[in-house]
Amino acid sequence: MTLLRAEGLTKRFVSRGPLGARAEFTAVDQVGFEVRLGETLAVVGESGSGKSTTARMIAKLMDPTEGTLEFEGEDVTHAKGAALARFRANVQVVFQDPFSSLNPRHTVERILMAPLVYQGIAPRGSRRAHAKELMERVGLDPDHSLRYPAQFSGGQAQRIGIARALAVNPKLVICDEAVSALDVSVQAQVIELLRRLQRESGFSYVFIAHDLAVVRQIAQRVAVMSEGRIVELGTTEQVFADPRDAYTRALLAAVPRIDPEWDRRRRERS
Ligand SMILES: Nc1ncnc2c1ncn2[C@@H]1O[C@H](COP(=O)(O)OP(=O)(O)O)[C@@H](O)[C@H]1O
Ligand SMILES: [Mg+2]
Repeated sequence: MTLLRAEGLTKRFVSRGPLGARAEFTAVDQVGFEVRLGETLAVVGESGSGKSTTARMIAKLMDPTEGTLEFEGEDVTHAKGAALARFRANVQVVFQDPFSSLNPRHTVERILMAPLVYQGIAPRGSRRAHAKELMERVGLDPDHSLRYPAQFSGGQAQRIGIARALAVNPKLVICDEAVSALDVSVQAQVIELLRRLQRESGFSYVFIAHDLAVVRQIAQRVAVMSEGRIVELGTTEQVFADPRDAYTRALLAAVPRIDPEWDRRRRERS
């Protein structure tokens, strides 16, 4: 079942040149894909290829210049008011830097209760308990609910960001380089957490990353972006084992140690 469908999504940014001349730059160019219920679709590509701009458009944090966005068969491209609030309850984002996306002056409890208040989900008296439950679900000590983000490590802070995304029980979670800034060992733990949460709740991920080894562990399908376009989209198995696009092949070649087995098969073929 298709959860989200993007068609012809395009984002052009306008800038002013030195003489006031208007210059247009196409950051995302006719991007189309679907996200199926319960799957993890990875979006990979080098820095500047348009991944975050695509993420912002499908999360409706930014309007596309062109193109359409459907969620559960409903056109949400221009959704406002109640339709937009419904969309926000279904689609959540986890960003790369937890510290800049969490209000430093709010306690974890307050951070986790905010979406419940906004969506009117848990009754007033049970919000505190709900926040503690969310902390437990992401492996944080609920006794720390009155601490501030700065009192947590990077990995723990990212768990808070994940808990906040899950507070409204979304159907799609967009992770924009959500583990990229973490140390390798912490990264592995957070990826394991993301996988467990998906097993428990059955939601979908759009998982944006530039680290292909990470993508391989978590995604069923992969879209490869280059210069604002999707140059390849297929199952993880197919894209890694038999990339059809030259850019994908270059991207794969730049990461020599994905795993020994894959490396061996790759060497055998060439
Ligand atoms: N708000 C903006 N105004 C102008 N240019 C932008 C803006 N956001 C992103 N860009 C440009 O769009 C391109 C794609 O950026 P981005 O989507 O952040 O790529 P990625 O996430 O793949 O690194 C880059 O060249 C970036 O400089
Ligand atoms: Mg980005």
